[in-house]
Amino acid sequence: MCGIVGYTGENQAAPILLDGLKRLEYRGYDSAGLAVRDGDALAEVVKATGKLYHLADKTDQGRSLPGNCGIGHTRWATHGDPSLINAHPHVSGSCSGSGSGKVESDVVGVHNGIIENYGELKEKLLRHGYRFYSDTDTEVVVKLVDYYYKKYKIGPVDAITRTMVRVRGSYALALMFKDHPGEIFAARKDSPLIIGAAENAAFLASDVPAILKYTRSVYYIGNLQVARLSPGSVKFYDLNGDEITLPLTEITWDAEAAEKGGYEHFMLKEIHEQPAAVRDTLVSLVKDGTVDLTETGLTDGDLKRFAQIDIAACGSAWHVGMAAQYVLEDLAGIPVRVELSSEFRYRTLPLGKDTLVIVISQSGETADSLAALRVAKERGAETLGIVNVIGSSIAREADHVLYTMAGPEIAVATTKAYSAQLAAVYALAIRTALARGTVSQERHDALVSELMTLPEKIRRVLEEKERLQWFSTKISNAKDIFFIGRGLDYAISLEGSLKMKEISYIHSEAYAAGELKHGTISLIENNTLVVGMLTQAGLYEKTLSNMMECKSRGAFLMGLTANGNFSVEDSVNFTVYVPKTDEHFMISVAIVPLQLLAYYTSVNRGLDVDKPRNLAKSVTVE
Ligand code: G6P
Repeated sequence: MCGIVGYTGENQAAPILLDGLKRLEYRGYDSAGLAVRDGDALAEVVKATGKLYHLADKTDQGRSLPGNCGIGHTRWATHGDPSLINAHPHVSGSCSGSGSGKVESDVVGVHNGIIENYGELKEKLLRHGYRFYSDTDTEVVVKLVDYYYKKYKIGPVDAITRTMVRVRGSYALALMFKDHPGEIFAARKDSPLIIGAAENAAFLASDVPAILKYTRSVYYIGNLQVARLSPGSVKFYDLNGDEITLPLTEITWDAEAAEKGGYEHFMLKEIHEQPAAVRDTLVSLVKDGTVDLTETGLTDGDLKRFAQIDIAACGSAWHVGMAAQYVLEDLAGIPVRVELSSEFRYRTLPLGKDTLVIVISQSGETADSLAALRVAKERGAETLGIVNVIGSSIAREADHVLYTMAGPEIAVATTKAYSAQLAAVYALAIRTALARGTVSQERHDALVSELMTLPEKIRRVLEEKERLQWFSTKISNAKDIFFIGRGLDYAISLEGSLKMKEISYIHSEAYAAGELKHGTISLIENNTLVVGMLTQAGLYEKTLSNMMECKSRGAFLMGLTANGNFSVEDSVNFTVYVPKTDEHFMISVAIVPLQLLAYYTSVNRGLDVDKPRNLAKSVTVE
């Protein structure tokens, strides 16, 4: 989703803004723009559609836009098509057809999020003589700020807080005012925004990697708060316009973590970082051989008390929820319901004190997951966020937080964050089972020690990557691919299929193997690839039979199973073996070949692996 950056300081702003936007590219966008001003001079806006290099070319890598203060934006279209005129920054006055040029207006701004009542606000502004040049909700907000600024002759902070009270929806806003050279004003509600502090400079961005090259000192601006940035100073205000103090956080992870480090793509790098992501997550949750959830604030008493667990998540995080359901039910004997966040919030599920609602989210900012969390809290449930990004909205609002330790994930298609989430839910399931007495201390210890072998087992799967690279060349022209399995193997299928379709653009479906013959099997043609998951001993024969039903209708079969199940080779065309582990944890090793297969297929097809079309890393719209 849209990315925003801002800089004010002693250096030239435009190159810093372009660099920051580059690091936010992973969020997904279809146009970009900058507004930069040189001292007291009017700000100048330049916009370009398509990739960021068009904007860099248009501004001679930023050199043709002199000035020490500026804001930048990458836009992922929501209101209005991805055109020059709809690209940000937007101004409070009128603007030329291309949207670029000197800003005569009082206010210029960029925005990430969605203003839900923009139609009603637009009508109000039209009545007051404002004219609109774009289809965006952002232009409405910028003009509304301008309206209050002039009507009440109040300063920028008060004009912004008045606007915040009137708008419904989500926003991270960065604004510059003609009368306040060298200053940037920012506001946030439900969209990610961080503020960076440095000597003689200040930054803002949608995400830390955008500014990490320049500073490690970061403020996590809260919901409904305003920031005022000038070189070397950052001030914060609440909705009343009163100054407040926020803690400064030092980012400890390395800028390296957000660089490709020799890999051709972030996705490949992140696939290889999975042993570390899983190990770091487990190490944070296991103390002296025992799962320890003290840091989450969840006690054994809580885990015993819950009668029901509901899980809400989106995308791959929802697939982790599917896996968690099987593992929690099997180990801890507790009923678990898994819902897509976008559905959860519209159901009137009976929730209460004895329900634990777990929201799983890498970014901690996914709009539907945040909304699901709020619904759960309103209905009186206790909430746990399993989140990767420290200080994100879900982390801040959940009653309990369990942080995954995947580090920054840049590729849109998640890999290491997914694996870290799996590790987290295994640990949670084991502790819940111990607390509820459904596993003995001995079984707990055995499960934990098996858990600790996962990083090494994942590393061993990575050694097999050439075989998957080779197989990917056979399937790169496939029309359809089906991933099937039962139980936990169905949960793997869901993620394997999503990885394949999102980055290779090959149509792919995951199906519960037993359900295939109730419709989907009619899609099987000669040479259609069917990937069967065979990691669960009790379901092996049944799934294999379902694969054979496909084969007899022309399908080409790939089987994925644990080392030692060599008989599978008698039935399928291509077999992938992964190290054996406890069956509850098999997804962690079995997903890796599927990630690699999707990755190499996308590369073979010459696609933009890290930034697939139409997708965004962090979906902050509903
Ligand atoms: C987007 C990403 C997916 C991710 C999903 C949920 O669609 O492309 O990779 O699984 O959002 O994101 P979250 O940050 O909540 O885990």
